[in-house]
Amino acid sequence: MSIPSVGKVLRVNGPVVEIGGLKNVATAELVEVGRDCLPGEAVTIREGIITAQVYAYTGGLAPGDTAHALGRPLSVALGPGLLGGVFDGTMRPLDAAAEFLETAGAPQVDAARTWAFTPRAALGDDLKPGALLGVIQETPVIEHRLLAPPGASGRLTWIAAPGEHSVDDRLATVGKVTVGFSNHWPVRKPRPVAERLPAASPLVTGQRVLDLLYPIAKGSTACVPGGFGTGKTMLLQQIAKWSDADVIVYVGCGERGNEMADVLDELPRLVDPRTGRPLMDRTVIIANTSNMPVMAREASIYSGVTVAEYFRDMGYHAIVIADSTSRWAEALREFASRTGQLPAEEGYPASLSSALAAFYERAGLARTLGGTEASVTVIGAVSPPGGDVTEPVTAHSTRFVRSLWSLDRDLAYARHYPAVGWTASFSRDAERLGAWKAAHGDPLWAVRRERVIALLGESDRLRSMAELVGSTALPDLERVVLLTADLIREAVLQQSALSPNDVYCSPAKQAALMDAVLQVHDHCLELIQAKVPASLIEEVDMSSLVRAKDAGGPDDIAAATSARDSILGQLEALR
Ligand SMILES: Nc1ncnc2c1ncn2[C@@H]1O[C@H](COP(=O)(O)OP(=O)(O)O)[C@@H](O)[C@H]1O
Ligand SMILES: [Mg+2]
Repeated sequence: MSIPSVGKVLRVNGPVVEIGGLKNVATAELVEVGRDCLPGEAVTIREGIITAQVYAYTGGLAPGDTAHALGRPLSVALGPGLLGGVFDGTMRPLDAAAEFLETAGAPQVDAARTWAFTPRAALGDDLKPGALLGVIQETPVIEHRLLAPPGASGRLTWIAAPGEHSVDDRLATVGKVTVGFSNHWPVRKPRPVAERLPAASPLVTGQRVLDLLYPIAKGSTACVPGGFGTGKTMLLQQIAKWSDADVIVYVGCGERGNEMADVLDELPRLVDPRTGRPLMDRTVIIANTSNMPVMAREASIYSGVTVAEYFRDMGYHAIVIADSTSRWAEALREFASRTGQLPAEEGYPASLSSALAAFYERAGLARTLGGTEASVTVIGAVSPPGGDVTEPVTAHSTRFVRSLWSLDRDLAYARHYPAVGWTASFSRDAERLGAWKAAHGDPLWAVRRERVIALLGESDRLRSMAELVGSTALPDLERVVLLTADLIREAVLQQSALSPNDVYCSPAKQAALMDAVLQVHDHCLELIQAKVPASLIEEVDMSSLVRAKDAGGPDDIAAATSARDSILGQLEALR
């Protein structure tokens, strides 16, 4: 081991600190500066001078103050106590939440807390990384599985007794490695898996426009670009509440002044629709507020994905939600400008693209070291300034993700929510998920999706034509397309997050609503063939189908089928 050296602070510029005199430091290693040992990370090293980004306020820090290298990268402690907790970007518990947040209701992490441990491995067992050592029922819904960490293999020569333990206790000795209940992992390094697998099964979000048109697989990635007020936060929170992921890691970089305080006020109160328990039982929150040190924001998305990987390794399907990555990218920009880096695009450093890739690439379905299939899904919002999707954060994100849910200002303005538009959105998972649906009882899923996307595209084209010539001047067939597209939008795609019956929609009800609209459409086409004028068809009252999504619960398909039957009857009477 090299002898730790002591360096000196040369220059302080906000969160950017230059240090001289430290030896044997590599980039991405931790340093501590000043009397208060403020944590920072070596970002660039040139001619013996280290430029570090510091994760705490640097007020009071001055040239001449001491600096130390810690000889390890920025890491987070992974162990019991994460679920239900609120942390800053470097995973320090925000139990002093009041320091940053106006809310008093945020849950606290108690360092003295103990956990009831049940061993699952026996002395003498020959173990490999990922092997189950024991469990803690961390919350009523999540069993915390303590595994032999990467690098620990060999005979189990010691294991903690059943009973209460704190996170600082020793858990086991595996081969030559002593394992604790809590273990550190560097945030910028993906945790290992046995094998990466192609994502194949859907993450059911319960949001019709996503599940029907732009689906996402478990272990996949999605980006949600949208201007201010188009519904990014609402959509991401709907996914946090309703998707069938097991564990949610919510990384918030609030866009509005007290948005993060609102989130911290609301999330802990939410009841998990799946369990009837608080949603926090399976949620970890990482909060960045505008009054926190800006560089902690930079670390937060990697901390978040590391926590998600940790739960994946236990065999869970985890999801990371980052709202919004634009605020995260501002930290990169701030660092770049303060270090005088030559800016690449719009003030962002040239590393923006690789930093985003390093985040999204950690999503995936995998066979874990322990042998189970589990996943990390990553979903990030971006707020392109002025809605300009060619701006760097949006453009790079779009390249890296498999699904794009593009929020459309016009739809949001018309209060069509979720405002996911059909011109710019895409899902690269759709084909594979269509095969999955076909193998799991819904062979028509892919056909239905293609028809709907084609009808919406066609109606956009016709609508701009109708604006010129008037819709009554269009041929009857095309008038029916416009009518159906309206029905698709109003009866299927619109979904209110505020309506108890419609906040979540089961896949069966989604299919029933969509099929009802398509059957009505097919019947209209038949009538046109039979020379029934479009003007008569347009007079049929289809509002029962529009109301069907709100009738009955999330699984209730009776309203959809009865509305369809009554409309088909009225149409038939036109012959
Ligand atoms: N699915 C939805 N259902 C009902 N209202 C919505 C929905 N999505 C967005 N809204 C409305 O739009 C407003 C702004 O949404 P928000 O998610 O805060 O936007 P953003 O995060 O893009 O700035 C919300 O306060 C709400 O009134
Ligand atoms: Mg928002």
